[in-house]
Amino acid sequence: MRTRKARLRDAAAIHALIADYAAEGVLLPRTEENVREHLSTFLVLEEKSKIAGCVSLENYGSDLAEIRSLAVSPEIRGRGLGGRLVEFALEEARLKKIARVFAVTHAPEFFVHHGFAASSRRALPEKIERDCRTCPKAKSCKLIAVIATVLPEEVMLPILDGVASPSLA
Ligand SMILES: CC(C)(COP(=O)(O)OP(=O)(O)OC[C@H]1O[C@@H](n2cnc3c(N)ncnc32)[C@H](O)[C@@H]1OP(=O)(O)O)[C@@H](O)C(=O)NCCC(=O)NCCS
Repeated sequence: MRTRKARLRDAAAIHALIADYAAEGVLLPRTEENVREHLSTFLVLEEKSKIAGCVSLENYGSDLAEIRSLAVSPEIRGRGLGGRLVEFALEEARLKKIARVFAVTHAPEFFVHHGFAASSRRALPEKIERDCRTCPKAKSCKLIAVIATVLPEEVMLPILDGVASPSLA
């Protein structure tokens, strides 16, 4: 079993893997066209030329990225491969000098096991702006945000109003 970046010919298999879990309601559905458009964000697990797992690392500017569409084939779950994909995605974030990686998930414990901490979506205004604001399920959403800091030195600190003001000195 090896991990690698996705290639164009993987799109159909990635889509099929996501579609099966989307039908169960544990992953958000993505069309094959959408997978193809975002192919450069996908990392895959491959065994004997078959795609056995996938994860997408989607950028939100230079400071932040989201882990999406994490899936491992049902018959090989529980063997550490989902963990391998998450670690691969975190390594990819480090290489790209992305400071923080988050996920919005129904499986927060799984991510906590890999160094993430529970957070609030309010701490992720970028995610709210991109997806939640237009999501029909936003009001009843039970998904939990988790976040990991992979490069503390790259975290962009908020610029505080009045920092330069003499009254605060
Ligand atoms: C979540 C998923 C990727 C994990 O992959 P995996 O290869 O089975 O996971 P690993 O073998 O690396 O890790 C197994 C550990 O994760 C835990 N785990 C797996 N799925 C979990 C879930 N849905 N909720 C909480 N914990 C989970 C297991 O209990 C196990 O814990 P343990 O080591 O303490 O026993 C896989 O189960 C999957 O594809 N699920 C369907 C899609 C999905 O739910 N994706 C994540 C949502 S973002």
